[in-house]
Amino acid sequence: MIKKGIILAGGMGTRMSPLTKAVNKQLLPLHDKPLIYYPLSVLMLAGIKNILIIVNKGQLNQFRKIIPEKNNFGIKIEYKEQLSPRGLPDAFIIGEKFIGKDNVVLILGDNFFYGQSLTKTLVKSTKLKKGAKIFLHPVKKPNAYGVAKINKNKKVISLVEKPKKPMSNLAVTGIYFFDNNVIKFAKKIKPSKRKELEIIDLLKIYKSKKKLSAEFIGRGGTWLDAGNINDLYDASSYVSAIENRQGLKIGCIEEIAFKKKWISKKDIQKSIIQYGNCEYAAYLKKL
Ligand code: DAU
Repeated sequence: MIKKGIILAGGMGTRMSPLTKAVNKQLLPLHDKPLIYYPLSVLMLAGIKNILIIVNKGQLNQFRKIIPEKNNFGIKIEYKEQLSPRGLPDAFIIGEKFIGKDNVVLILGDNFFYGQSLTKTLVKSTKLKKGAKIFLHPVKKPNAYGVAKINKNKKVISLVEKPKKPMSNLAVTGIYFFDNNVIKFAKKIKPSKRKELEIIDLLKIYKSKKKLSAEFIGRGGTWLDAGNINDLYDASSYVSAIENRQGLKIGCIEEIAFKKKWISKKDIQKSIIQYGNCEYAAYLKKL
C-alpha cells in the first residue's frame, strides 16, 4: 500500500508571467480555491496522509500560509525547496529522505483530476508493490504532453515527451505511482535537450524492464493541466459550473478529511474561524 505522496509545486511559471512574478502558479485561484488544493485533494482521496510538497527556493512561506505543517486537514505535511527547476524526476532526489524505503505517488501541482470512478482507480493504484503506473487520458492536442502509444492488450509500447507528430491521442497525465527503485532510477537519467530531467525517460526505464502499467481515465473522467493561462481559466469555469449546479465543492480538503474521519467537527470549526467570513467557510459550516 502506498502511503506517501509528493506534490511538485515549483517551476518558474514563466508561461504565466507577470501573474507568477510574486505568487507561485500553484497558489493562483482555480475558481474558489488555490490551484494546489486540487492535487492535494486527489492524494487525500487516494488515502494518502503523508505528503511532501516541493516548492521553489524562497517561496516556502507563501505555501505555508495556505497549507501549514500544523494544519486542520488530518494530514502530515513536509516541505522541501527545489533550487532550480531541474525537471520532474528531481522530486525523487529531493524527496529521497522523505520516501525512505517506501513506494510513492507523485502528482504535479498544476494538474486537475475529476470523475466518478477516480477515487476507486486511485485507491486501487496505491496497492502497487513493484514497478510504475501511469494514468492516460485522451486529448485533442497531445503534442503539449508526454504521449503514450498502447497495443491491443493496453500495454504501453512507446512513450515520447511532447512529440511533434503524436503517435496517439493518449496523454500521460501528471500522476505517477512508483516503487522504491524510482530514487535509484531518477539518479541515473541525464538532462534532455531542454536541460531537464524528463519524467518520460524515467518511465522508459520501467518500460524497458517490463515494469510499467497504465490506467485509463476514460471519457467519463476529466483531466486538465492548468499550466497556462487559458487552461487555468478553462479549469476554473469547469469547477465553477459544476459547483454552482450541484452545490457541492470539488477539492474541498476539509470535507475529504472529515468524510474519511481523519478530522473531527472541532477541526472543521477551527478551519471555519481561520478562513473567516467567506463562501468556503460557509460551505464548511454546512458540513
Ligand atoms: O501535465 C502533464 C505533463 O507534465 C506530462 O504529460 C509531461 O510528460 C510532463 O513532462 C509534464 O509536462 P509539462 O511541460 O506540463 O511540465 P511543467 O514544466 O509545466 O511542470 C509541471 C509542474 O511541475 C508545474 O506545476 C511546475 C512543476 N515543476 C516543474 C519542473 C520542471 C517543478 O516543481 N519543478 C521542476 O523542475
